[in-house]
Amino acid sequence: MVSATHASQRAPLTVPAARGGCPFDPPPAYEQARQERALARVRLWDGSPCWMATRHADIRAVLRDRRFSADATRPGFPFLSAGRQALTLDRPTFIRMDDPEHARLRRMLTADFMIRKVAALRPAVRALADDLLDRMTARPERTADLVADFALPLPSVVICLLLGVPYSEHAFFQRCGSTMLRTDATPEEVRTAQSQLLEFLAGLAAAKRSAPDDGIISRLVAQNELDDDDIASMGRLLLVAGHETTANMTSLSVLALLRDPQAAARLREAARQDAAGDGTALDTAVEELLRYLTVVQSGLARIAVEDVEVGGALVRAGEGVLCMLGAGNRDQDAFPDGGRLDLQRPDARRHVAFGFGVHQCLGQPLARLELRVALPAVLDRLPDLRLAVPFEDLRFRHEMAVYGVHELPVAW
Ligand code: HEM
Repeated sequence: MVSATHASQRAPLTVPAARGGCPFDPPPAYEQARQERALARVRLWDGSPCWMATRHADIRAVLRDRRFSADATRPGFPFLSAGRQALTLDRPTFIRMDDPEHARLRRMLTADFMIRKVAALRPAVRALADDLLDRMTARPERTADLVADFALPLPSVVICLLLGVPYSEHAFFQRCGSTMLRTDATPEEVRTAQSQLLEFLAGLAAAKRSAPDDGIISRLVAQNELDDDDIASMGRLLLVAGHETTANMTSLSVLALLRDPQAAARLREAARQDAAGDGTALDTAVEELLRYLTVVQSGLARIAVEDVEVGGALVRAGEGVLCMLGAGNRDQDAFPDGGRLDLQRPDARRHVAFGFGVHQCLGQPLARLELRVALPAVLDRLPDLRLAVPFEDLRFRHEMAVYGVHELPVAW
């Protein structure tokens, strides 16, 4: 640990910082900042200053405090890249708005993602997982890319069904979505991807006026409160948030389990108990994977609308804060021995992998359901699953807002 004086003399860190030796761990610079002080001063890509929160308690304090705004149109809002600035300023969605407007728009969707509503999808998600694994295992070569063949299509098909978006367009919307989430994409690339996706979704909304179905887009059209562009904007948020995050959580979890046979055995046992009617152990295991892996790796951005003290630091009105969820989820004060994957960790659910406060992930019941189905299905169907390439050759998604692996070549 470095002394406070010494730490304050160093040049501010530029974020996002690079990860270190273990690709499952958050960047060492965030861990160090967490040990040294509550909030740290950092620099963004354009050299502008910003605060960074890395402690679990500080992250929750910022995210639940209405004096911190998520409104990206406020001057000084901390963007993580030029591309992300273009993404949010062109057409904000409710993830980048404050109440009451945020609450008004979010409320239009809460019923769709309630735990009970989502639980009814379980048989369909299970059937889909089985079908994808059937196709994979039917191949004579006994190898596959678990991302392209399983982890990505599963949540993509589900969110398409919920929204009423034809899955046949998946190559198009996945390409747009991944460009929008690339922190190294230029503003032009991001704008083009976003406007193509919005145009497609607005067209879909317009078509559903004459040919309604039972998807969310059609319902929003029928409610007549939003115009087609606003519906497209909401659809874009759900479509992108709904498949990239869970897909990466699934493939990164499988990778973590392949690296830790004891954890894999625990998950199998938890799945057996779940099948016998007691889902507690599986719930805990999934929460622990969410905590340990924390795939939303770009800091959640907020801006102070008045002077606020956080953990002893004074954040002045107009200053930005980035909440580094991965670092907060490894905070020893909240999670003793937090660097260890412990699928029986009793308090894993206190993680902030889904954020915290009013913007806490709307889709979390769905994400949990998909992970509870997907992970046991893979381990059950492919008991001798292994990596088909050396671990060192895997391409991790360092340049993406959502972390994971680009491909996961496996064999069985
Ligand atoms: C493992 C999977 C997922 C993770 C780790 C995750 C993570 C997050 C995080 C950290 C936030 C907070 C953003 C902020 O405060 O700025 C968020 C918000 C959100 N997520 Fe998720 N998410 C996941 C899956 C999903 C799914 C499946 C959907 C939907 C269909 C979804 C829809 C949303 C929406 C709409 C918001 C914005 C909520 C608001 O602003 O009120 N997410 N998610």
